Amino acid sequence: MDIDRSKPHIARMYDWYLGGENNYEADREHAARVETAFPSVGLAARVNRAFMHRATRWLASRGIRQFLDLGSGIPTEPNLHQVAQAAAAESRVVYVDNDPTVLTHARTLLISSQEGRTAFVDADVRAPQAILDADALRTTLDLSSPVAVSLTALLHFIPDGQHPNEILGTLMDAVPSGSYLVLTQATADFDPDAFARIEQIYASGGIDARFRTRAEFEGFFTGLELADPGIEVPHRWHPETPSAEGDDLDAQVSFYAGVARKP
Ligand SMILES: C[S@@+](CC[C@H](N)C(=O)[O-])C[C@H]1O[C@@H](n2cnc3c(N)ncnc32)[C@H](O)[C@@H]1O
Repeated sequence: MDIDRSKPHIARMYDWYLGGENNYEADREHAARVETAFPSVGLAARVNRAFMHRATRWLASRGIRQFLDLGSGIPTEPNLHQVAQAAAAESRVVYVDNDPTVLTHARTLLISSQEGRTAFVDADVRAPQAILDADALRTTLDLSSPVAVSLTALLHFIPDGQHPNEILGTLMDAVPSGSYLVLTQATADFDPDAFARIEQIYASGGIDARFRTRAEFEGFFTGLELADPGIEVPHRWHPETPSAEGDDLDAQVSFYAGVARKP
C-alpha cells in the first residue's frame, strides 16, 4: 500500500476538519491554511455529515435498502451503513474510495449487521463502469432493485474536464426507476473571497477544487425528480431540530445539498 505523506490528501484533510487523527503533517498544514481562510470549515464538514445521516434515514423511511456511497472517506462514526442498518437491519451498503488511507481503514466499514451486508471497492469514481462491474458490488447490491447513489463532498474535487455529468449519468443509468441520487458540494456563492483562497490552497497541494454555483449544482440532477425541499444548504434539508442560526450559518457552511428520485 502506497501512502504518500509528503502531499496533502483530500480524505485526510477532511478527517482533520472533523477532528480525526488519521492525518499527517502535510494534511494538517494545508487544512489549517483552509481553516484560516474559512474558519467554519469544521462546522461545514459536520453539517455535511449530519445531512448524510438525515438523508439516509429519509431514504430508509421510503423503503430504500441499498446504498452505493462514492468517496466515502475515512470512517467516521456513525458511518452510512450504521445509520441505514439502525433504520433497517437488512440494508446493504457498498462504499467506494480511491484513497490508500481510506483503504487501510476499510475493515471498519465492513462490520455489518447480521441481516445486512457491506462491501468496499477501492476504485476511482472517474471510472464508474469499473465500479459497477466490481465483484464486491455485484455480490452485495441487486441492481434490478432501487439503490441510493451518494456522492457527498466529492464533486468539488471532480473538475468539469473530468466529466462529472457523465460519471453521474453512468451511475444512474445502471440503477432502476425508484433509485435516488444524493449529492452535496461546496460553493463559493456565499463567500467568494474565502473560496478563491481555498482553491489556491488545494491547488498548492496538487488538488484541483471546483466550487459550483447553485445552478451548476442543480444541473447534476437533470432528468431526475428533486425531492422536497429541492436544492438547499444542507442544514435546511429536512432538519430534525429547528436551527437557531440565521443566514450566517448558510455562509459558514457554504454547501449545497439535494436528493432526487429517478423516475
Ligand atoms: C471530503 S471527503 C467526503 C467523505 C464523505 N463522503 C462525507 O461526506 O463525509 C471526499 C472523499 O472522496 C474521495 N475521493 C476524492 N476523489 C475521488 C475519486 N476520484 N474517486 C474516489 N474517491 C475519491 C476522497 O478520498 C475522500 O475520502
